[in-house]
Amino acid sequence: MKSPVRQKILDAFRKAGGGYLSGEKIAGEIGISRTAVWKHIAELRKEGFLVEAVPKKGYRLRETPGEWSEEEIYWGLETKRIGRPIRFFETVDSTQKIAHELAANGAEEGTIVLADEQTMGRGRLSRGWHSKKGKGIWMSLIIRPDIAVQKAPQFTLLAAVGVAGAIEDVAGLSPKIKWPNDLLIEGKKVCGILTEMVSQENRVLAIIIGIGINVNHRPGDFPDALKDKATSLAIHAGKEIPRAKLVQSFCLKFERLYDTYLKAGFLPVKTLWETYACSIGQRIEARMVQGTIRGKALGIDEEGVLLLQDDSGRIHHIYSADIEI
Ligand code: BTN
Repeated sequence: MKSPVRQKILDAFRKAGGGYLSGEKIAGEIGISRTAVWKHIAELRKEGFLVEAVPKKGYRLRETPGEWSEEEIYWGLETKRIGRPIRFFETVDSTQKIAHELAANGAEEGTIVLADEQTMGRGRLSRGWHSKKGKGIWMSLIIRPDIAVQKAPQFTLLAAVGVAGAIEDVAGLSPKIKWPNDLLIEGKKVCGILTEMVSQENRVLAIIIGIGINVNHRPGDFPDALKDKATSLAIHAGKEIPRAKLVQSFCLKFERLYDTYLKAGFLPVKTLWETYACSIGQRIEARMVQGTIRGKALGIDEEGVLLLQDDSGRIHHIYSADIEI
């Protein structure tokens, strides 16, 4: 947020649950002067927050701007770590690139980088990612679990479950997950996840989870090459979906899943993942650098690795591939 003090004031209003807070109380809690409180409240008003001031009672937050802004996301954010802080940009080349730079400079776990537009969005396998202005969620999350490098890809699956839950919650739609990183609605891609890792020896220093969600695109917003493959939440919901709410819901779901993972490992995440999986039991084609394998997707193992049985009955462990259903 542009000002950590304003973030604290919003936190205090949230705790007050719609009640009044005296300028003195806010000043005391945050450790600033009453004049400073007044100045920050004036700034919040400029940003569209409706803050009422009543003599002898204090301040009360009556309405938030309801827009796609850092402040709006903070206001409804119920997490402890994920989404704290948010680094919010209008236009960037890639949030993934910025998140890597921040991680290298010691950014704390939970930091998210969000942009309204990306000019060089990155997808898996060196592909680009179409990131139209004002239409989607282009976000990179930094986490720092103390795990071995082989486990890092599990976070693609964990994040996919978080996004799927947030979409159900906020848009009322039922997405499916196509291993490892695609979320589909009626067979078309609505979200892609790119998990990258910074490591030392065999340990993870940081994982950067890049998430692109097509939220409010109309069919004409996609370039011709994507028209048959990509879709958006708004197209299926028949209405615009509030992006700030989707980010808040994702952060909360991810935090809960991540806490479960840290306590109990990948297995509970696997069980949830399976409820969203769309290719299990079906014939698929796995395209890899070493070649293509066709067969039946049996499921994922306890590490999140895809098990594919070819026509001779042999079971292959697939760690990374492009899947065609
Ligand atoms: C894929 O399906 O290939 C993964 C796409 C990941 C796109 C997101 S958008 C936010 C973040 N920044 C990027 O440049 N890429 C990821």
